[in-house]
Amino acid sequence: MSHINKPVPGADQFYPLNDPPIGAPLPQKTYPQNAELPILFQPLTIRGTTFKNRIFVSPMCQYSSDNGHATDWHLVHIGGFATRGAGAICIEATAVVPEGRISPEDAGLWTDSQIAPLQRIVKFAHAQGTKIGIQLAHAGRKSSTLAPWVHYHRPTLHKAPTSVAQKDEGGWPDEVYGPSDIPFADDYPVPKAMTESDMLHVEDAFIKAIERCEKIGFDFIEIHAAHGYLLHEFVSPLSNVRTDAYGGSLENRLRWPLRLFSRCRAAWSKPFFVRISATDWAEGPEKGADGEWKQWGIEQSKVYAGEMQKIGIDLIDCSSGGNWVKQQIALVPGYQVPFAEALKKTYPNLPIGAVGLITDPVVAESYLHDGKADAIFLARELMRTPHWPLFAAQALGVAVKSANQYERAFEFKHA
Ligand SMILES: Cc1cc2nc3c(=O)[nH]c(=O)nc-3n(C[C@H](O)[C@H](O)[C@H](O)COP(=O)(O)O)c2cc1C
Repeated sequence: MSHINKPVPGADQFYPLNDPPIGAPLPQKTYPQNAELPILFQPLTIRGTTFKNRIFVSPMCQYSSDNGHATDWHLVHIGGFATRGAGAICIEATAVVPEGRISPEDAGLWTDSQIAPLQRIVKFAHAQGTKIGIQLAHAGRKSSTLAPWVHYHRPTLHKAPTSVAQKDEGGWPDEVYGPSDIPFADDYPVPKAMTESDMLHVEDAFIKAIERCEKIGFDFIEIHAAHGYLLHEFVSPLSNVRTDAYGGSLENRLRWPLRLFSRCRAAWSKPFFVRISATDWAEGPEKGADGEWKQWGIEQSKVYAGEMQKIGIDLIDCSSGGNWVKQQIALVPGYQVPFAEALKKTYPNLPIGAVGLITDPVVAESYLHDGKADAIFLARELMRTPHWPLFAAQALGVAVKSANQYERAFEFKHA
């Protein structure tokens, strides 16, 4: 055995090699407790890409981009997850056109100058042995709004009179688009109902962004079709009242998102995830006594997921809500898991991600064990506890690799 601090081969800087990778199980020979691994720490292979464990970093807007460009904030924020053992990291909602940003400080991938800062982050994550992807997005009628801490200034408890980012605040309230001209709420911009050529413009922008993802070297993409943003707005009867081929019947409401996914699938050969909202959480049933769909819900989500599976979507990341301002959600741990489970039961061969108030490793493992999901996405708990994968390993009795530099903080029993 040579006594050399081995570098990561091919990396653009010196990084000590982690072998096995951070967050992967240590060898069973020296760590007999790893004879039977919890599913959370079993690899997941999707379309030829192997994720070293099932702990996925959920996309999290940072409202910190410089005209859509990632900064060193993003390198540190994302880099911190790469050094702490997550199986995959999904970079925040990243707009494919400037007017598709939620806030003026959102991430973007509409121009080539946005490639380099993202590539720096991807190279770092890869050097730490972590798969990394990006969530491509268009915020639709929820565009041109203020960053949360601008809208509500906690130090003074001052709340801005409106959610809208006005022109002199970097916003574009007159250039906000949606399926119909219905605003999300009274204090949101009034969207323009998209024309066919507006839709084509957005489709082309997704394809251009995907070509940039290829250049950057991302391992997977996720399209944001949840949380009341553009693609969710198209599928929900609450936000889509169009009378053309893209509104009305379920088939019509799904038409454009599915066409967009098909084009994106043809342009991207690696794993392709879609995040959906499985319900609008509006009052009343999903389908009325008259047989009409009243709001978006799990029954339509099942049809949608089936169509996505036919297109070759590789994973549905199952979230909920965000399209109905008066939504009523009973926030309990794992509150969205029943939706993930419903999709999983309907399509056993379609990988499903569960997300939402999942913090306990034993409970996370139970979701996988009980066949309710294939991967666990975490957001806030990973911000609070970036080393969650290492703590989860301890809780589940498995010995995993920590970063070489952090090994003295994590002791696992060995033979
Ligand atoms: C600060 C913050 C930013 C978020 N940004 C995004 C985003 O860019 N895209 C997205 O789909 N969800 C976003 N979400 C939702 C999370 O990805 C996640 O679905 C949600 O927080 C529930 O999971 P959790 O209970 O583990 O936090 C964000 C959540 C937080 C807290």
